[in-house]
Amino acid sequence: MHAETYYPTVLRVGEVDREGERREIKKERLRKMEYSWVRALVLVICMFPLLVDARTRHYKFNVVMRNMTRLCSTKPIVTVNGEFPGPTLYAREGDNVLVKVVNHVKYNVTIHWHGVRQLRTGWYDGPAYVTQCPIQPGQNFVYNFTLTGQRGTLLWHAHILWLRVTVHGAIVILPKLRVPYPFPAPHKELVVILGEWWKSDTEAVINQAMQAGLPPNISDCHTINGHPGPLSTCASSSQDGYKLQVESGKTYMLRIINAALNEELFFKVAGHKLTVVEVDAIYTKPFTTDTILITPGQTTNVLLPADQGAGRYLVTASPFMDSPIAVDNMTATATLHYANTVSASAALTTTKPPPLNATPVASSFIDSLRSLNSKQYPAKVPLKVDHSLLFTVGVGVNPCPTCVNGSRVVADVNNVSFVMPPTAILQAHYYNISGVFTDDFPGNPPFTFNYTGSGPKNLQTMNGTRVYRLPYNATVQLILQDTGIIAPENHPIHLHGFNFFAVGRGLGNFNPKTSPNKFNLVDPIERNTIGVPSGGWTAIRFVADNPGVWFLHCHLEVHTTWGLKMAFLVDNGKGPNESLILPPKDLPAC
Ligand code: C2O
Repeated sequence: MHAETYYPTVLRVGEVDREGERREIKKERLRKMEYSWVRALVLVICMFPLLVDARTRHYKFNVVMRNMTRLCSTKPIVTVNGEFPGPTLYAREGDNVLVKVVNHVKYNVTIHWHGVRQLRTGWYDGPAYVTQCPIQPGQNFVYNFTLTGQRGTLLWHAHILWLRVTVHGAIVILPKLRVPYPFPAPHKELVVILGEWWKSDTEAVINQAMQAGLPPNISDCHTINGHPGPLSTCASSSQDGYKLQVESGKTYMLRIINAALNEELFFKVAGHKLTVVEVDAIYTKPFTTDTILITPGQTTNVLLPADQGAGRYLVTASPFMDSPIAVDNMTATATLHYANTVSASAALTTTKPPPLNATPVASSFIDSLRSLNSKQYPAKVPLKVDHSLLFTVGVGVNPCPTCVNGSRVVADVNNVSFVMPPTAILQAHYYNISGVFTDDFPGNPPFTFNYTGSGPKNLQTMNGTRVYRLPYNATVQLILQDTGIIAPENHPIHLHGFNFFAVGRGLGNFNPKTSPNKFNLVDPIERNTIGVPSGGWTAIRFVADNPGVWFLHCHLEVHTTWGLKMAFLVDNGKGPNESLILPPKDLPAC
């Protein structure tokens, strides 16, 4: 019933790393050889027809340091298996995935499988101090989960400190065997990961900022599959960066992932149209656009018909920011490269990325997204609401005598800046350990004010490790309301353990009397990460059908660090099928 595929070369890489600490140079050479091996093998495995219905897939993630040069400067970074971006995890819907994570670095590590539902398996979700204690240096932990009812692109990333800046990769969930895509099958599929790069050590960047109470330095560039691209100041030639190789007349599917820490991005391909077919591992009604908007934590599959002649075409990833907040304004580039094009001589067709503050481009993209809502892939929008919640999301200012201005910038949900507990909340819940968290998270703002106006006089937040408790199967409507405190800002909010339906969106303050009239309860987009518009609100609905402790936070890492996070605690239902599984034996201790 279960055929097992082992990834022997991946294992061998790990062993090389472990013993290789003595001779750096030899290790580096060996690594290069091994990686090309891994790549070849992964390719073979992916093309290999999968003959059984549900299988177990084994991966080994060795978390290791590696020197990496970008923008003419070299620094050591934390990686999985020495790769940046990290390895792609391939599986089919219904598969069981086992990933052994071995921590060879000096930092505590956890890995989150962003968007994987983790039905009843919350122990393997990954956010440090929420579902698990971190994997300490020299330790390991096997993540074990099943991909139930999901197919498409997701991502994995470190979920502790700022390690996800380089510790991230794609999750590709193919449909079940013999189940086609609900769109014409592409000739080829390519993973395109957008990222952000700092020349300095990112842990130092955030630590200094936290000490000073000030916002951290912005990044030095954006990247496409790890590279700033041919137009970067340090590029050695117009051949630098990632190349998407295509053949004229064929259609390609790009699995685009925003793995940047702090920035929402626009993505464009010069001279080509993109047809969106899936976001966050949910099929959409196909629509065609020349620019996509993607927030950190979101994934978007597009079909790209290579319908131009020979030549090279510029691919761009550029930031979107429609509030007065500093961002890294560098555009990452790559090239789409037609076969039969003589590389060096071929002219490059360029494109201009949208302006930084192109709100209309962003809004028109968001408004075009609809669930496919077909017979086979219905949109099961909850129509009745058991828990109607309104959470304000934004920043605040708290006193800090040791900080530069005597105060520090913080962030909050309903005026609570979430404080990470010293031990994992899920364990505290399961073993009834008191004193770790309280279940009194406010379902509504503790005091009302004109949220998107000039704000209250007192900008101070409360600290707390508070969760909102839900009975099994409760239906939830959650209004995420941006505040204008200091400045309104777009917040990409991510909910662990669930997909939700984005039923409504608007500018200004949510009005409980009139705003719901415009809700889409028929085919709203279903996803796991949603942008709350700057100075506006977003309404989401979900069913609490997954027992456990589930993190909700802004996927701008700086805001998570500042406290824009909370958790839902969903109680067990009746019987084992509605209950959290037993904790794994190798669950790390704090
Ligand atoms: Cu992708 Cu809690 O994160």
